[in-house]
Amino acid sequence: MLRKLSLLLICLLCLYGCNRSSTFTLWQLPSQVNTIGNSYVIRTSHGKIIVMDGGGEQEKDYLKGFVEALGGKVDAWFISHLHNDHMGALKVLLESDSLRIDKIYHSSFTDEQLPLEGEGWQKYYETFYATLDNATDMEVIDCHSGDELEIDGVNFKILSEKNPEIKDFNNSSMVIKMWDKHKSFIFLGDLGVKGGNKLLASEYAADLECDYLQMAHHGQAGCSKGFYEAVKFRACLWPTPSWVYNNDLGQGFNTGGLKTIEVRGWMDELGITEHYRSFEGLVKIE
Ligand SMILES: [Fe+2]
Repeated sequence: MLRKLSLLLICLLCLYGCNRSSTFTLWQLPSQVNTIGNSYVIRTSHGKIIVMDGGGEQEKDYLKGFVEALGGKVDAWFISHLHNDHMGALKVLLESDSLRIDKIYHSSFTDEQLPLEGEGWQKYYETFYATLDNATDMEVIDCHSGDELEIDGVNFKILSEKNPEIKDFNNSSMVIKMWDKHKSFIFLGDLGVKGGNKLLASEYAADLECDYLQMAHHGQAGCSKGFYEAVKFRACLWPTPSWVYNNDLGQGFNTGGLKTIEVRGWMDELGITEHYRSFEGLVKIE
């Protein structure tokens, strides 16, 4: 009898193990410089590699090494929006042709949006788009709200695309939901109050449910309290350096002008107790 029970237990454990191995793994990469990089790497159950944003230029070597340790080829790279703390690493990696990338998914900004942050940045982003346009060995996909795709059992849905009528870059962050049967994530990029409210008023508000929510704009300002109240989620991903997390610009806790402590208070009010902060090191979620 005891032997039969042991065999049953072993079978159940094996089944559980096999089941878990069929899910994807996500890493939240720690910032390599004391600033606001936004970078996630995902490995599917059969080894496909997906990058969300990838962080700033100074983080390119760490990101490249991380991807190379996983096989060296990126199957899909999602860019939330044009800002160098999100696509700077990708820009320099493309320019140096030092990483194999199959597909890039983004929400292409309009020509009218590109000058919004001044001439210097306009040239920076135009150079990036020219690199994408001239690439011959990868596919670049311009995404729209409602688009869905599946990569090796991992599902993706675009919940929000660029919003050129809101004249800033952050509110044009592409919002991406990613899930399989075990867990789900929503990446908000640097979405702001206006973009968040527009998403809430859209048909895709019904999709705002996930296990893990990437805090908008590194958890500093970003979306409204009402937006976070409307999303059903249980854990926060903070792509955030400690000085932003603590609103400490050198004079002590909560002495700067950042809104992070207020946002942290909202999370407390919502009863969220599970937090993953990039300044604490590499986060791995399986
Ligand atoms: Fe950002």
